[in-house]
Amino acid sequence: MLIRPLTLTDLPALQEFYNSLTEAVTCFFQPWPELTEEVLREHLTDGESGKNVVLGLVSAEGAVEGHGFMWNVDSDKPVLGIGLREHAQGQGWGRQLMEALLAEADAQSLPAVHLTVLKDNVRAVSLYESVDFECEGETKFREEGDSLCMVRRRAG
Ligand SMILES: CC(C)(COP(=O)(O)OP(=O)(O)OC[C@H]1O[C@@H](n2cnc3c(N)ncnc32)[C@H](O)[C@@H]1OP(=O)(O)O)[C@@H](O)C(=O)NCCC(=O)NCCS
Repeated sequence: MLIRPLTLTDLPALQEFYNSLTEAVTCFFQPWPELTEEVLREHLTDGESGKNVVLGLVSAEGAVEGHGFMWNVDSDKPVLGIGLREHAQGQGWGRQLMEALLAEADAQSLPAVHLTVLKDNVRAVSLYESVDFECEGETKFREEGDSLCMVRRRAG
C-alpha cells in the first residue's frame, strides 16, 4: 500500500471508498453531511490547487483503502480528517497517514491543525494524543457535547 496525494483521476476510487464504508466506520467518520460526486470533485480540485491536502492510502490495485485530508490550509483553521476501511485498520496505516498529514502541515509551517472526534472513539483519540493533539473544548457531532475539539500546535 502507498500513501500519496489523490487527484481528480482518483475520483471514482474515492467514491468507491466512501460508498463501501460500513456503519462501524461512518458512525465515527462522516466528513460531509451529504456525500455527492460534486462534493468529492470539489474536494479533489481543492487538493490539486493546494487549498486542501488530500492523501489516500492506495492499494496496488488502485483502490482507496484510507483517506486523510486537511481542509483550508490557507486559512487560520485548517481541519484534519482521517478514516480507513475496516479491513485496513489496526495495522499501523492510520498512524502513517496521520504522520504524512502532519509532515505536510509542518512543511507548510501551519501554526495549528484542528479536528473533532467523538468522545467514545477511543482508538482515534489515543492516536491523536500520541501525535500531540490536545483537547481544547467540546462540540456537537450528532448530539450536544458528544465530541472533542482537538488542536495540534507546531512545535517551536
Ligand atoms: C482511527 C483510525 C484512523 C486509526 O487508524 P488505524 O490504522 O486503525 O490505527 P493504527 O493501527 O495506526 O494505530 C494507531 C494508534 O491508535 C491507537 N489504537 C489502535 N488500536 C487501538 C485500540 N483498540 N484501542 C485504543 N487505541 C488504539 C494506538 O494509540 C495506536 O498507536 P500505536 O501505533 O502505538 O499502536 C482508524 O481506526 C479508522 O479509520 N477508524 C474509523 C474511522 C475513524 O474513527 N476516523 C476518525 C474520525 S475522528
